[in-house]
Amino acid sequence: MSIAIQAQALTRSFGDTRALDGIDLEVPSGTVLGLLGPNGSGKTTAVRILATLLPPSSGRASVGGFDVVRQAPQVRTVIGLTGQYAAVDGNLTGVENLELIGRLLDLSRSQARHRAVELIERLDFADAGRRLSKTYSGGMRRRLDLAASLVGRPRVLFLDEPTTGLDPRSRIGMWAIIRELVADGTAVLLTTQYLEEADQLADEIAVLDLGRVIAAGTSDELKRRIGGQVLEVRTVDPVDLDAVAAELAALTGDAPSIDRATRLVKVPAQDTVLVAAVVRRLDEVGIVIADLALRRPSLDDVFLQLIGRRAAMNEPATSAA
Ligand SMILES: Nc1ncnc2c1ncn2[C@@H]1O[C@H](COP(=O)(O)OP(=O)(O)O)[C@@H](O)[C@H]1O
Ligand SMILES: [Mg+2]
Repeated sequence: MSIAIQAQALTRSFGDTRALDGIDLEVPSGTVLGLLGPNGSGKTTAVRILATLLPPSSGRASVGGFDVVRQAPQVRTVIGLTGQYAAVDGNLTGVENLELIGRLLDLSRSQARHRAVELIERLDFADAGRRLSKTYSGGMRRRLDLAASLVGRPRVLFLDEPTTGLDPRSRIGMWAIIRELVADGTAVLLTTQYLEEADQLADEIAVLDLGRVIAAGTSDELKRRIGGQVLEVRTVDPVDLDAVAAELAALTGDAPSIDRATRLVKVPAQDTVLVAAVVRRLDEVGIVIADLALRRPSLDDVFLQLIGRRAAMNEPATSAA
């Protein structure tokens, strides 16, 4: 298995802002690396450097075996990147735009046509594919842009929040296309704000914060690293959420998180004995609960623990991008 993307001690500063503070990444061919991190953590900066759109301040990186600084033109022949076809021709239909890109990539007329139609169908905008692209809504332009980056079946694909703003059906269509490319050997670097997307697609996950990789591994490894389990209490009345959180904090010594939309209070729980204590205590203070469960941590819990702790210490992130 060859290494498609490799970064070593990569840094990038913008004035006083250290957007990347020495990251190492490795993405083998035929795999997906999910780059997760809060706003401003350096995800887009990393993608732009690897895609040769921005030089690093220091460190080195190679893509498809080519150095991103010294061999940028060669790197560009092996990568696909969303956003680069933002200037599609509004007076062509979606299909025609994709065909044109295919022709520019040296596909034959019929290959270009076939690929264009295939991508339009897979991304679920078959009808719009026959309309002029200047009539597209933002979401439709987004999909055309995604399709454009896929025309050349790139060996290395950079997807910077590819499904943000897409409806669930298009998102699932996008995932299917990504899986198909990966099965063909494409390496994918995917940044996402959807933890479920990383869980679904990524072979490995790197969590960025303040320009550094603060955790890396498979989704399961990251979940295991949290250790133990998570205790969840759902209240009947949203009014009780804060009181439940206070009781759980007192019993566990940990800071619970509250999700008001689902009326859930969550806290790390190493100990099953705790469950009985919680039930007893909530009963004593007269809080009625809808349900209570001990379960394995989710990627959400990993995130809360990794990123939430710094937030709780009130350490400012670099300005949000
Ligand atoms: N062109 C730029 N000029 C100045 N600061 C930048 C520029 N691009 C990114 N930054 C800063 O670098 C940090 C990382 O940004 P970015 O890579 O966009 O993060 P993310 O994609 O994770 O939200 C942020 O503090 C952002 O404000
Ligand atoms: Mg970004």
